[in-house]
Amino acid sequence: MIKINEHFLKLQTSYLFSTIARRVNEFQQQHPDTEIIKMGIGDATRALPAACVAAFHAAVDEMAADATFRGYGPEQGYPFLREKIAENDYHGRNVDISPDEIFISDGAKCDTGNFQEILATDIVFAVPDPVYPVYVDTNVMAGRTGSFENGRYQNIVYLECTKKTHFIPDLPETPVDLIYLCFPNNPTGATISKADLAKWVDYARENRALILFDAAYEAFIKDETLPHSIYEIDGAREVAVEFRSFSKTAGFTGTRCAFTVVPKDCNAYDSMGNRQSLHALWNRRHSTKFNGVSYPVQRSAEAIYSHAGKQQVAEIIDYYMKNAALIRREMDALGRDCVGGENSPYIWIDAGGDSWSLFDSLLNNAGVVCTPGAGFGTCGNQYIRLSAFNSYENVQNAMTRIKTALK
Ligand code: MLT
Repeated sequence: MIKINEHFLKLQTSYLFSTIARRVNEFQQQHPDTEIIKMGIGDATRALPAACVAAFHAAVDEMAADATFRGYGPEQGYPFLREKIAENDYHGRNVDISPDEIFISDGAKCDTGNFQEILATDIVFAVPDPVYPVYVDTNVMAGRTGSFENGRYQNIVYLECTKKTHFIPDLPETPVDLIYLCFPNNPTGATISKADLAKWVDYARENRALILFDAAYEAFIKDETLPHSIYEIDGAREVAVEFRSFSKTAGFTGTRCAFTVVPKDCNAYDSMGNRQSLHALWNRRHSTKFNGVSYPVQRSAEAIYSHAGKQQVAEIIDYYMKNAALIRREMDALGRDCVGGENSPYIWIDAGGDSWSLFDSLLNNAGVVCTPGAGFGTCGNQYIRLSAFNSYENVQNAMTRIKTALK
């Protein structure tokens, strides 16, 4: 008899953003004349940078001729892209990461979800609350948690991120082996200083723990005192894996390209307490289960690092950050407590009550989609998240509608 992985039965019925999409579609069917403004999921709305489009076209032309056609590429990514990343994202910040420590992939969602696979199932792991649901759900699937009770899974150490903690997690009170951190944070938009991040690196070194650091939103940092990479912290190479993405940086949400950095001196331990290289294990997993991102997409991503590409990306980021500033200003003016929007495209707003109620009210009365904070954890119950990924005109329009609806 074929049997299922019963850990899947512990999951909530559907993935957060799928639930929201279903509710929005139902509303649209009932109200076909409402022009809905979507500020829920953080999905890019601006076109790919011109430099990326030109590189994409040129690479497609290469694929169209036998002489320049490419079949399977290296699973870890083409050297041309890995070298550009190491040079620009790391060496440019005096961070020591070599190209062969960079693994190109089709998304940070997959990488943050998949990485736990190379770790033991009986480890103790900690996540911030609120949290990007992928970190939690993939560990539920792997069997690292108990059942879901009162909004939380058993056997997870939840690190509460509230107004009191400035939306930054405190070190855990009980020992943990694996820690997920995301800065600039999804969903709250909060940031972490180098000094606070150093406390986590020290904790991981002292406890032989591992940090999975999601830096998908680093390109939105405006305050240059903030770390773009966990490797800006001394000792992090030994205890941290970093995830980055071109999705939000350069509009690759539909094109798909991201990367994971696994330093060669980052280890975990086998049951005998012997060190094992995470780089070697991830390389083994990646080359077995993944066949690389397509050549034209990698050429397109490489173009982000050209002179023109850098300027175009900066312009796109500034555009979204102008939206973020507008949302933040308007929410402040409405007297709502907010965080984020200054070094991040997300604004985390006090809902003044239940987050799904405000979600429904904004959808019904303003035709605006937000993300209810409850979908990110119990500490999000009283918050909503607005995303700055939209046109400036739509954001202006949404702010006017929200102000009217909330009056
Ligand atoms: C979000 O809105 O939180 C993100 O777009 C989700 C994702 O990147 O998968």
